[in-house]
Amino acid sequence: MKSKASAPGKIILFGEHFVVYGVKAILCAIDKRVTVSAEKIPQNKISIKSSFGNIVESPDRPIKEIESQFRPFYYLADKMIQKYKEKFGIEITITSEIPSGVGLGSSSACCVASAAAISGLFTKNSKEEILQMAIEAEKTIFPNNSGADSTVCTYGGLIQYDKKGGFSKIDTEINFDLIIANSKIKHSTKEVVSYVKNFKENNEERFAIICNEVNRLVEDVLICIKNNDLEGIGRNMTKNQKYLESIGVSNEKLREMIALSNKSSFGAKLTGAGDGGCIFSLADKNNLQKTVNNLEEKNYECFTGKIDFTGLDTF
Ligand code: PMV
Repeated sequence: MKSKASAPGKIILFGEHFVVYGVKAILCAIDKRVTVSAEKIPQNKISIKSSFGNIVESPDRPIKEIESQFRPFYYLADKMIQKYKEKFGIEITITSEIPSGVGLGSSSACCVASAAAISGLFTKNSKEEILQMAIEAEKTIFPNNSGADSTVCTYGGLIQYDKKGGFSKIDTEINFDLIIANSKIKHSTKEVVSYVKNFKENNEERFAIICNEVNRLVEDVLICIKNNDLEGIGRNMTKNQKYLESIGVSNEKLREMIALSNKSSFGAKLTGAGDGGCIFSLADKNNLQKTVNNLEEKNYECFTGKIDFTGLDTF
């Protein structure tokens, strides 16, 4: 028996980094997916096959001894094998349309789809239960993760998220086009988050002021979303980018890509941890192609996307 699931990637529309300190963030699932298939195998092994490599390990090994990029999937498979006292093993195959390590939620989407596919071999779980498993699994590589990415990968659409209040879906039928451009500079979320922590500790007062401003900005964005005001959202993206610049998580390449996008789109900013990774711009059918051309003329690779309203899908 095979159990299959897929989950979308994401972008952080607003509030990355500040969300770690309690500010509200807005996230959006995108129509690029990870698909995971899980199957019981006769050998008592956990086998993981993916574009980032393959491993075959015995169950019941300490998680720290597993190569880090495979840990969440090993963790999920092992947990099920132990829970159900399974004599068989599990083979997991991961395929992805989402570039990894560039802030598009590929790791969270992999965890969500894996949690659904692997647990689906044993029992039926609600989205809420799968989300909890995925967050636990992702903590094996990123213990302080806020859970925001896994949440949007599970439920799809647009969500608002803050550490205290948790997530809530933004009820909207807003329709926009995204142009996502990859700087091809891989970043470590852990390192950039720790850099920001340091920045905050050395600039407590300034950081608190910026957090307040981002909070206000996000509230304004929620009104813009309600009013289908793409220009308003774009203006706030430009503002949010300025705050990210001021805490030092942008760089020359991202700034150039953002400036090119700003020639025609409603707005552009980095997404995710920054210091590399991706930027995205907001457009509709009238300025989409022009924005793609602006980036491609300067040899920046980009792809277009839309909101994914499905979230986790099992089949
Ligand atoms: O680059 P990503 O997708 O890992 O996003 C990180 C988002 C941060 O706000 C910087 C960290 C977090 O846990 O929310």
